[in-house]
Amino acid sequence: MIKNFAHRGFSGKYPENTMLAFKKAIEFGADGIELDVQLTKDEEIVIIHDETIDRTTNGKGLVSDYTYEELCKFDASFIYHGQMGFNKIPTLREYLELVKDKNIVTNIELKTGILEYIGIEEKVWELIQEYKIEKKVIISSFNHYSILRMKELAPDLKYGLLSESWLINAGKYAHDLGIQCYHPIHYNLTPEIINEIKKYGIEINTYTVNKESDIRYLIEKGIDIIIGNFPDLTGELIKEYK
Ligand code: G3P
Ligand code: CA
Repeated sequence: MIKNFAHRGFSGKYPENTMLAFKKAIEFGADGIELDVQLTKDEEIVIIHDETIDRTTNGKGLVSDYTYEELCKFDASFIYHGQMGFNKIPTLREYLELVKDKNIVTNIELKTGILEYIGIEEKVWELIQEYKIEKKVIISSFNHYSILRMKELAPDLKYGLLSESWLINAGKYAHDLGIQCYHPIHYNLTPEIINEIKKYGIEINTYTVNKESDIRYLIEKGIDIIIGNFPDLTGELIKEYK
């Protein structure tokens, strides 16, 4: 059955990658949550999409130039002009405390595509083990070397190869690397591409799907996971097809 994942939490209505957006995603019935991780100067794993804090907070500069304590002063919901209160950048640990006993799958995206954050894979793996969420996690990245590094450390986890381009023979590519899932941008999913990926038994988990017509197309095509900013809408549409 197709699953409904909240992209950066319920980011269509709440500040992305904040505890508020994660709690709202759970409240609105998401099956899973997608989030992005980066490393601070003192090597804390924090949940934030960009390498800098400029777009999503009222601060400026690289995440990796701040200690976690310093980052806590910035408001990750500043674009809502106070309507959402003050929301700090969460740590991955804080998030795992929230979901550890819940029936929620977490898609952790390693943001190692621009800054490599050497050692982030080990740190994420340590937390997964500490919180015992091995069966409730999918690790994805646009940096496929990063995925292979983590697979060396934790061969039994589920992994996804992110792609924003029209990769040829994506199913074969994932299969040959021993990776279970392919995470393409949704508009690349033509019937031919879907068939090629499915032929290799690879799961298709696609982003960022926000429009009703796109959600319907992907449900009808039997995609595995829809990752979108509006888990309320995706959830309603999935119910219709049950
Ligand atoms: O993991 C799916 C999607 O989040 C990848 O793109 O830029 O939104 O992190 P981006
Ligand atoms: Ca992401």
